[in-house]
Amino acid sequence: MCGIVGYVGSEHAKEKIIDGLKRLEYRGYDSAGIALPVNGKIEIRKHVGEIKNLEKIIGGDDYDAPVGIGHTRWATHGAPSDINAHPHGNQNNSVAVVHNGIIENYQEIREWLQREYGVAFKSETDSEVIAHLIGIYYDGDLLKAVNKAVEDMRGAYAIAVIAADEPDKIVAVRKDAPLVAGIGKGFNLIASDIPALLKYVREVYFIENNETVVLTKDNIDIYDEKGRKVKREVFHVSWDADAAEKEGYEHFMLKEIHEQPKGIQDTLFKRLADDNSINLDGITMTKEDIENFNKVYIVACGTAYHAGLVGKMVIEKMAEIPVETDIASEFRYRDPFVDDKTLFIAISQSGETQDTLAALREAKAKGARIMSVVNVVGSSVARESDDVFYTWAGPEIAVASTKAYTTQLICMYLIALYMGKTKGAIDEDYYNLIISELKALPDKVAAILEKEKDIEKLAKKYYHKEHIFFIGRGLDSGVSYEGSLKLKEISYIHSFAIAAGELKHGTIALMDPDTLVVALATQDFLYEKMVSNIVEVRSRGARIVGIAKEGKNEIEKVSDEVIYVPQCIDEVTPVLAVVPLQLLAYFIAKERECNIDKPKNLAKSVTVE
Ligand code: F6R
Repeated sequence: MCGIVGYVGSEHAKEKIIDGLKRLEYRGYDSAGIALPVNGKIEIRKHVGEIKNLEKIIGGDDYDAPVGIGHTRWATHGAPSDINAHPHGNQNNSVAVVHNGIIENYQEIREWLQREYGVAFKSETDSEVIAHLIGIYYDGDLLKAVNKAVEDMRGAYAIAVIAADEPDKIVAVRKDAPLVAGIGKGFNLIASDIPALLKYVREVYFIENNETVVLTKDNIDIYDEKGRKVKREVFHVSWDADAAEKEGYEHFMLKEIHEQPKGIQDTLFKRLADDNSINLDGITMTKEDIENFNKVYIVACGTAYHAGLVGKMVIEKMAEIPVETDIASEFRYRDPFVDDKTLFIAISQSGETQDTLAALREAKAKGARIMSVVNVVGSSVARESDDVFYTWAGPEIAVASTKAYTTQLICMYLIALYMGKTKGAIDEDYYNLIISELKALPDKVAAILEKEKDIEKLAKKYYHKEHIFFIGRGLDSGVSYEGSLKLKEISYIHSFAIAAGELKHGTIALMDPDTLVVALATQDFLYEKMVSNIVEVRSRGARIVGIAKEGKNEIEKVSDEVIYVPQCIDEVTPVLAVVPLQLLAYFIAKERECNIDKPKNLAKSVTVE
């Protein structure tokens, strides 16, 4: 996720900014840059890759200034590159901007600036429009120009701006993206995140939504939307740098579990227009292509593969087309039946998983159309695909994938709905029903997260178990695989997932009083069958944790514990049902004192075969 750092004081800004950016490295980024006002002009230096690449190119520069802004970029609009990196300047670099977030109407602004002012854009980013807008409105008063530019901008963002003619200040704005001002003595700082400030300050002001802040070396003035000065309480940060990176959460995994409502919301609303239609910005697949497909392969590894299991069921149901979900390392060597009537969907958080990439290349060579669902813009999988549905989860740092999975599910629904509607396989009412159920998910996930203490209590009760099974039917069977993987990878407990109806064909032999079974029963039309499966394992002595929708209380009679998720239509329950499983895995691993964010033997991105 992008990071912002700004310094204004009387010492060398360059050093402070680079230092602040380094403290944000843990969040993931693909390029970095810095802007300083020097001799009536703004010097901008930026480079793709690590901050050390930026340091190399500025190493020889003898310029510096007592004010400046810096940025680490996580690409959204436009691939990672030197040109797309921030800061962005206006035409003559008299102002420079760093930006986190999204400018939704940037296309409109871009066209207007080109038409009315002949602006020549250098980058593919949405952010560059901000620099040009401010440049056009600037007449010697940076605050005024920024306020005017903000009136034209729609979206969720945080920006920090400097002007060559006012080399003693930074103006920053917050709208739905974090911004915090650090209070120094003879200097002040602005940043998107507290860790960037901690080496220099402990006292901060949290900037609120729709506020503008002007920083000089001796003052921090905060203004509300109407331009009135705001008095803000000073907040003393007592966290150490490690806790600050995790925003107070004990582990990145827990932080990322809690980021799911936002990730779901962002992934959904990036693709949903006001009239509920799915906007296909950047997708070139036509109606004819969709009608031409006679099969779909979804190919991925690990958690992404589990998202594909759910994807199979929803695409088959909504788009009425056969779908096969396969493990990438198997697909690539089994000579699958692929031709130019095949849609191949690769799912990958990192976009760099070697097996997924090799499977994609195999399918491409055989003529398939390639679509991918990826979290990292500009990654190999994204670059080699015909079309990309991005997940807007933000960087995932914990090795165990959580928010990537739920946002991958959202993409599966969007793809299924789009294909189904285009083919006429679903009617308008059903389409609108699923969309409204999807829109309700962020709040419902947040409601489950509020019950995390209950799940922690369960974890304390069962963390010593040696074997934990996960069972479910229909969509729940896909989710049970994910629950089991989460548990085993971070707690090292032996775990196994199986479609509940398959138990009696062998696996039930393993059930005994030492076994814990997590039974997912969120599918209304399969509920009674699940209750029977629970009875089967319970009669062999197993303990049961049931997962069901609120109001489906029958399960209490056959379970030792029940975790309820909010009511919703069966099709979208996987997004809810997985959340208690993630929390259960997390709290069990915590009880067992495991290294949760970096489990043994695992890497975040598997770039080898
Ligand atoms: C499990 C996990 C892995 C990844 C798998 C694929 O928590 O993170 O199973 O899902 O290695 O990685 P990506 O999605 O980057 O292709």
